[in-house]
Amino acid sequence: MKLKQNTHYLGNKSIEEIRNTFGTPLYLYDTEKIVAQIKQFKNAFNWPGLKIKFAMKSLSNINILKLMQQNGVDLDAVSLYEAETGLLAGHEAKNIMYTPSGVKFNEIEEGVKKGFQINIDNLPSLKKFGETYGNKVPCCIRINPHIKAGGNHKIQTGHKDSKFGISLLQIDEIKAVVEHYQIRINGLHMHTGSEITEVDTYMQGAKILFDLAKNFKELDFIDFGGGFKVAYKAEDKTTDLDALGAALVPAFEQFCKEYGKELEMWFEPGKFLVSEAGMLLLEASIVKQTPYSTFVGVDSGLNHLIRPMMYDAYHEIVNLSNPGGLVKNYNVVGYICETDTFAWDRPLNEVRPGDILAIKNAGAYGFSMSSNYNSRPRPAEALLIDGEVKLIRQRENMQDIMKNQIEVL
Ligand code: LLP
Repeated sequence: MKLKQNTHYLGNKSIEEIRNTFGTPLYLYDTEKIVAQIKQFKNAFNWPGLKIKFAMKSLSNINILKLMQQNGVDLDAVSLYEAETGLLAGHEAKNIMYTPSGVKFNEIEEGVKKGFQINIDNLPSLKKFGETYGNKVPCCIRINPHIKAGGNHKIQTGHKDSKFGISLLQIDEIKAVVEHYQIRINGLHMHTGSEITEVDTYMQGAKILFDLAKNFKELDFIDFGGGFKVAYKAEDKTTDLDALGAALVPAFEQFCKEYGKELEMWFEPGKFLVSEAGMLLLEASIVKQTPYSTFVGVDSGLNHLIRPMMYDAYHEIVNLSNPGGLVKNYNVVGYICETDTFAWDRPLNEVRPGDILAIKNAGAYGFSMSSNYNSRPRPAEALLIDGEVKLIRQRENMQDIMKNQIEVL
């Protein structure tokens, strides 16, 4: 976004023109920023067999998935629906990592039929996999390394009480199942949480995986997961990817030497690739003064961006319509019949009804976690590409709200 003569521009369009063309609320993603993040990620890991599997749960619009494919980035999917969207976007099935969480076995069978790389996260499914496929279909195992990693406890996934993965302490049981059914384990995986700041956290996990890997002779890859922290506030500590690359690549090289084969190094970033590339554009509907505070009510709510309410996540907010305005403090709130506060006591350039606000860093887990709560339609999505803003998802309407309802009375 550029500020010229007190007007914000995105590509060649002023923010006012964008509002007039697309309306609000609108998710807007910048392709250039996504491509820059991909480059930065690739540069940090100097390994010939580096594979990036974009965690598509963070942003699953088909255009974003195509952009990933055009830039040599594969997919990590958590449901068959996600994985199939990946196919529609042109990804090859074998390049899609399918990591369901505790699903019925028929979903795994379906994944095998489609040719996805299967990642198994529990012992009963591993046993069933062996019974069904023996050594005919390879699979990866998701290990829970019992590492406390990630920001808010709600986004930590690798600790001992987490539902995810097979405990590293169950390695003997894993081995027994694998040997009994002759399963070909072609990968080991971990994902310990989101917003991991410390290189050491990844290294601890890596050491555990290297150690466990010795039990499996036919590995093709090790998947170190996602969770790279981006800055939501200017002063936020982020994951130092270069430092991680500098520590992990030599350790991986050493491991591969001992293992006797050069394996692929996989990662599954979500936020890192798309969070900062996206914002949610809103309109201020009302400004309401009480004896205690000033509220800005916007044309959105937790139905469109739930991160501030669900994780107490901080998202920067900018009043795009009044860049020079006097700074005042506001509670920015949604229209949902819940306490859906985007920001408490936040300094903003004076907000007037009709002003356009941008909630930044909303590319990841924004639209993809949106809902129809309060029977509100989901927002539109648009893409900034080569200086042009293009609509990539229509705003929902009344028909969408009623689409699957069946009147029986
Ligand atoms: N791989 C697996 C297996 C995952 O479950 C996830 C995220 C990722 C990779 C990508 O993590 P990332 O790089 O985006 O941190 N909704 C929460 C985050 C939950 C992430 C769930 N799994 C949020 O908005 O903070």
